[in-house]
Amino acid sequence: MQGSDFILGDEFRIDNSETPVRLEQAAGTLSTNERCLLFKLARDHYLGSGHMIDAGSFLGSSSLSLAEGLKANSLFRTIADRIASPIVAYEIGMLPAPPGAKTAITRHFGKYKYTLGESFVPILKENIAGHEDVIDLHIGDFLTETWPAEKPIEICFIDLARTNDLNVRCFQQLFPAFLPGRTLLVQQDFFFDRAPWIKVLMGYLEEHFEWLGQVGPSSLYRYRSQIPEEKYAIDPYTDIPAEQRIAYHQTAYHPGLSPRRQLPIALSHCYLLEACGGPREAMEELQTVRARFADLVSRLPNLRIRLDRAEAQFAKAVQPTKAAATKRAAVAATPSATTPDFSARSEAKRRVTQAIRDLTQAGNLMAHERQLDELYSQWTGLPWPGPENDRLRSEFAGARRAALRKLNEEKRAAGLQAPMRRPGGVRASSPRDLPPPSANPKTVGASGWISRLVARARRWLPSA
Ligand SMILES: C[S@@+](CC[C@H](N)C(=O)[O-])C[C@H]1O[C@@H](n2cnc3c(N)ncnc32)[C@H](O)[C@@H]1O
Repeated sequence: MQGSDFILGDEFRIDNSETPVRLEQAAGTLSTNERCLLFKLARDHYLGSGHMIDAGSFLGSSSLSLAEGLKANSLFRTIADRIASPIVAYEIGMLPAPPGAKTAITRHFGKYKYTLGESFVPILKENIAGHEDVIDLHIGDFLTETWPAEKPIEICFIDLARTNDLNVRCFQQLFPAFLPGRTLLVQQDFFFDRAPWIKVLMGYLEEHFEWLGQVGPSSLYRYRSQIPEEKYAIDPYTDIPAEQRIAYHQTAYHPGLSPRRQLPIALSHCYLLEACGGPREAMEELQTVRARFADLVSRLPNLRIRLDRAEAQFAKAVQPTKAAATKRAAVAATPSATTPDFSARSEAKRRVTQAIRDLTQAGNLMAHERQLDELYSQWTGLPWPGPENDRLRSEFAGARRAALRKLNEEKRAAGLQAPMRRPGGVRASSPRDLPPPSANPKTVGASGWISRLVARARRWLPSA
């Protein structure tokens, strides 16, 4: 078979000659092999004991692959009688134009010409036309989506975890609904160099998943055993000591991987080192990676571009601008730069995450506004190293948005305020939009963050 960049046991072996023509021709970013894998999973492995998730549909090639496979499944009729829309697809619906772009920037995807910054939802809908009966399309920011743990997920395809926020959102929302011994998970960005968090997460969960193989940049797993509740409270990419994160990342070198797939893991390791230890260590490791893969890189210019991009990033950070050096020195001089107490931080985070989850699910957020305030104050009052603050802020963004949405619903139901418009489903808030977490718990008033959030959210939203 052509371009056979995959490792799969007999149970999951793919054969492109079986892939429907419509699938091969559909616009999208997935390789034919990956489309074929999704088609086969939905046709041959799906029993209808839960839903199928397509997280990150773009123009629809992944949704289409699952839908075509489902309709070719011998159990399709029975399943369709039981589950109204077996495939749930998530997509924000727009690729942003670069900030400050003065002219329209267009990209070609198959026969489609797309302008960055505009909605591509009409193209997505056209591509999956005829499958509306089996696909429940959610257009909006996945960071605000919730999934009940008691609604099983049987096949889960994740293709939007390009930030750790989204990675954690998938973990905390979707994984609790996985069925031990049954659910199949595809991590599409596993072999992407600039997403070390996916490898750290899968290392953290290693004992709960069986690695079934690799197709292009995708990694396939079977969920083996229940993840205990307390594991969900920890974000392994930010909450645990650096050595442990690095050890989890190392588990990504699964047996039999070709050098072509080992290189992105090695590069991802460098990015992780930069995040954990700093650019010097990352730069040193990058030089060993360059030497180790010299032969491969000389043959594949695309890989050289990735190495050069990483090197440029680390080099820039190694020689900081004067302003950055001053800022770094100031951060180092403050008490917040001391080593954080990981156990206290994780415990506080576990409590606030659990509280938000419980309250959001129970629908009694207004009654517990004060309790949330207090937990939030405790969490932000913990000592944090300076560079962690940005991540912290973005982590809060998802939880806050979910809480805010619920609170608005409650207030609206109680007639306390006019309905607020949601961000139209396409605007992701930036971590920079959020207030910085306070280093001092006393400065965070117990009456404050939800109402400040509401006020701030009003500014984010387009006026009615
Ligand atoms: C690599 S593409 C998915 C490709 C797709 N699976 C296919 O078959 O071609 C990743 C998608 O994730 C979407 N995405 C990124 N951030 C998102 C968010 N916060 N919420 C929902 N979708 C998001 C992007 O708009 C993009 O379309």
